[in-house]
Formats: sequence, structure tokens, C-alpha cells
Amino acid sequence: MIADVVVDLQYGDCGKGKIAHALCRDRDYTHVIRYNGGCNAGHTIYHNGEKFVTHHIPCGVFFGIKSIIGPGCVVHVESFLKEIEELEDAGIPAKELVKIATNAHIITDFHRAQDGKDEEIGTTKRGNGPAYRDKYGRKGVRALEDQRLGNYMINIYHELYENEEFEDIEILFEGAQGFGLDIDWGDYPYVTSSHCTVGSALLNGVPPKALRDIWGVAKIYETYVGAKEFEGPYEDFDLIRELGQEYGATTGRPRQINWLDFDLLRMAARINGINKLVINKMDILDEIDKWYAYNGPHLLKFDSREDMEFWIRTKMEVEVSEDIDTFFSGDKEHI
Ligand code: IMP
Ligand code: MG
Repeated sequence: MIADVVVDLQYGDCGKGKIAHALCRDRDYTHVIRYNGGCNAGHTIYHNGEKFVTHHIPCGVFFGIKSIIGPGCVVHVESFLKEIEELEDAGIPAKELVKIATNAHIITDFHRAQDGKDEEIGTTKRGNGPAYRDKYGRKGVRALEDQRLGNYMINIYHELYENEEFEDIEILFEGAQGFGLDIDWGDYPYVTSSHCTVGSALLNGVPPKALRDIWGVAKIYETYVGAKEFEGPYEDFDLIRELGQEYGATTGRPRQINWLDFDLLRMAARINGINKLVINKMDILDEIDKWYAYNGPHLLKFDSREDMEFWIRTKMEVEVSEDIDTFFSGDKEHI
């Protein structure tokens, strides 16, 4: 068994969808598995020139790959079924390809109503926190118990270990949210209720030795959506927000913006053990031609894109690992 993982190194919205989509196109995965989160996530994907925003469903569906919502996830059934219909309407055979692990948990309407009252964290109000609370409080409802999901059920153990259909299993794990929103490593309590690191992927039934590539995804600047104050005092951020279309894919809220924080990037790269690093949205800073980053408390101002790329690449190699391949990519460019 081989597994690659796509993991976000900042606060979500770094372009995991784009990287996962490119990997599905270029490699031979038998499965794509979403390993955390629920419909709080919004993955924007451009497939054959058409724009899709998925919430629950992994991007394997666009390439005819079996796509599983893993046991680490929570599912709102109505939203899930609606997403399936939308994909089917667009000609994507989601009914045939999408499965939900029997031991994933359900987001009930009660969870939604409770989350809807949140004012402190700035959640997406999709019921995520209450669903995970009940899961860990052992009062949750598992996917297996919901009649509406009958056709979509899959037993992950059977699928990965006792299945004659595949000779070699090759999985792409697709994460949701990001390191700065991780329940343990993020800025608690301004976090989501699931684990957003590579460890979270392993909780979905795959042994550590199966891991091959760990793709860390970040942006050349940072964005965050939620209740804490995050945005720095720079006029450039309004322009970046417009140029980068930095509005939530799920809720439409404007994302707060700040310059890249190298300490966070390094910490996330170390803890996730990445060997591939993708820095997205280079084309947005190209347009304003300002290349700034925090190094600890200091704001560094580079003369050019090349200088900043060199600095990031070198610091990553020296301070994290020589084995990291770094790619810089624009929003509309492919890797
Ligand atoms: P929750 O996950 O809906 O409980 O929200 C908790 C925090 O995570 C809030 O600050 C949300 O804005 C943020 N969040 C949750 N999902 C995403 C996402 O997919 N992208 C970016 N931020 C997210
Ligand atoms: Mg997103």
C-alpha cells in the first residue's frame, strides 16, 4: 500500500484542491480519501475549464477514482446528497464513485442549530464542532446508522485489506482546513474541531510505513477566516483580497490577510514531515510586486520574487530538511 498526503500548512484555503486535482491527473491512485472535517471545507477545483466547489467530496471523482469520505470526517447528509446531485448534473459519476466510511460521523440538524449560534470562534456554522463533540462524548451517530446513506456505505478495513479488486492500493489523502486551525497545534480556541496534520490521515486506517509523499501547501501570503483579529495594518491587503478573490468558498466571508509568517510555515513543515512544498498565489504578489514576510518579529522586504523564493527555499532546506522540493505556483498556473 502506498499513500500520498496533501496537507495545508496555514489556515486553509491554500489551494489543496488544486494540488490534489493535479496529483489525481498525473498519478495512478486507486482511492482518494478525505481524512478530516465536514462541509465547513470548501475546495475550489477547476476541471476541464469548469469551476466546482466541493465540500465533503474528494476530488478523485473528477478522474473516475473511488473517492471516500473517511472515518475522521463528519457528514451532513442533506448537503452531501445535494453535492452528489450537483456533480451528477455536471456529468460527473459521483453516485458510482463516492463512498462514506461506515464509521464516519453524522452532523445532525441539531448540531447545525447549535453551531448556528456561535459568536466567539467565527465558525462556518455548519455543525462541525458539535458533531465532533458528540463523537468524542460517545453520543454521536455513525454514518452506518443513517438509512439515507445505504448505497454509499463502505467498510474501510475490508476495502483496503481484504479486497481482491485491486492488486496494489495507492491512496491520495486529501485534508481539509490547515495547520493553524488544527485542534492541537492551532491558535486555540480559534481552531476547527478536527486534526489537520498528516497524523490525521493515518487515523483513517493506513499504516505509517505506507506514506510516500507529503505535500505541504501554503500561500505566499496568509489568510484566515474567523473571529480573532488577524489582519495586519497594511493597505496592500485590500488589493490582495480583491486580486486573490480571498472570500470564503463556503460562507463568502472576506478572509483576513497578512504577510507570510515563516515561523508558522517552518513549524507546520516540521511537524508534518513534508517532502514537497507548494507555495501558491505567486501571481497575486506579482501584480502588486511586494515581497514581504515575517521572520520572527521582523518584517523582511525582499527586492524581488526571485529573492524571496531563494530565501524560502534555502531556509526550508537548512532549517527543516534538505529533502524538500519547493514549487512556486500562480493561481492560474499548473504544477
Ligand atoms: P468550524 O470548522 O466551522 O468549526 O470553524 C472553525 C474555524 O475554522 C473558523 O475560523 C472557520 O472560519 C475556520 N474554517 C473551517 N473550515 C475552513 C476552511 O475550509 N477554510 C478556511 N477556514 C476554515
Ligand atoms: Mg477552502
